[in-house]
Amino acid sequence: MRPDSRVVLVSGGAGYIGSHVTHVLKLAGFSPVVVDSLVSGNLWATRSANAFRQGDVGDRDFIRAICDEFRPVAAMHFAAFIEVGESVKRPEKYFTNNRDKAKVFFDTLAEKGGGNIVFSSTAAVYGEITDSAPVREDRPTRPINPYGQSKLDAESHLRGIGNVKSVALRYFNVAGAEPSVDLGEAHFPETHLIPRIVLPLIDAPKDIRTALGLAAGFRIFGTDYPTRDGTAVRDYIHVMDLADAHIRALRYLLDGGKTEVFNLGSGAGYSVKEIVEAARTTLQRGDFNPGIEPRREGDPAILIADSMKAKVTLGWGPQRGIDRMIASAAAWHRSQTYAETIVKKANTASQ
Ligand SMILES: NC(=O)c1ccc[n+]([C@@H]2O[C@H](COP(=O)([O-])OP(=O)(O)OC[C@H]3O[C@@H](n4cnc5c(N)ncnc54)[C@H](O)[C@@H]3O)[C@@H](O)[C@H]2O)c1
Repeated sequence: MRPDSRVVLVSGGAGYIGSHVTHVLKLAGFSPVVVDSLVSGNLWATRSANAFRQGDVGDRDFIRAICDEFRPVAAMHFAAFIEVGESVKRPEKYFTNNRDKAKVFFDTLAEKGGGNIVFSSTAAVYGEITDSAPVREDRPTRPINPYGQSKLDAESHLRGIGNVKSVALRYFNVAGAEPSVDLGEAHFPETHLIPRIVLPLIDAPKDIRTALGLAAGFRIFGTDYPTRDGTAVRDYIHVMDLADAHIRALRYLLDGGKTEVFNLGSGAGYSVKEIVEAARTTLQRGDFNPGIEPRREGDPAILIADSMKAKVTLGWGPQRGIDRMIASAAAWHRSQTYAETIVKKANTASQ
């Protein structure tokens, strides 16, 4: 069966990152087909897709039927569980979904003709980083939690499949939104830093802040690190820059590129103080003065990606800085879609 050169399967396209990539795929002239079980995603987030089919990536017959119906030339695999803390408490949940079901998804695509797969991997595959050097792709991979291990196992399996070419994109931290098309991050629970800073500062409704456990406020842990301003440095990229990297990775594979792994990061990263300052100015909250606590044990001073390989091979680099991540997140978190989604998820969780 000849593939349709425009069709790209997007697993997990009803989630945060997958929905933004679906939107950008459409803008780039592809025909994205979203498959998502909606276990944590949202139906509204699939609106840019050419088609949406609800189902599980671990359901071989379902994926076979999707391949027969749409004849995709490529797939992007976002579907996964993403909470590191939960993965420590419930490792099987993560190994089943992120490793075993990913394997079924990849093997079924291979059985249906192979093709090209872009995989959402993570910095968690590297494990504990104790030095401050930017992390390159050739660092040893030694995950320290089931989330990281399950993603690494899926990545390794994918690389070993004979008739599939793949790109694994290892992202560090992702933030921001595309509020102009009513897309953004609507996780429940929400453990990511930027939404947890932004929601209290935009005076989000009390029921939302309570549901997300945001009463304690943001605190800085450690101001005596050997960094440019004493606070820890982490790597954030805007979700629309991440989407751009996915389109480039896809084109790279379609143009004959070989199987590869790329880190995606900002290069210099952002210190906690820089993020606080950006939140103050962008959200006009000069009164934002988070409390200061001692360093937490085990928190490295600097954790940033070396993305030179993605720059050289894919021509990719981030275009949007921390101000835009915060401003776009704030606009999205003020939206009705976001508020309704969180209230609904909180109600379901409390039943
Ligand atoms: N968000 C980040 O900062 C970050 C950082 C590094 C890597 N990642 C990776 O990026 C990917 C997407 O992350 P996200 O933040 O968009 O997550 P998300 O939870 O918003 O989206 C995941 C989507 O996958 C779906 N899904 C989960 N299991 C499924 C299954 N078995 N079958 C079908 N659908 C299923 C969910 O319903 C949801 O729509 C994940 O693979 C994650 O490991 C995310």
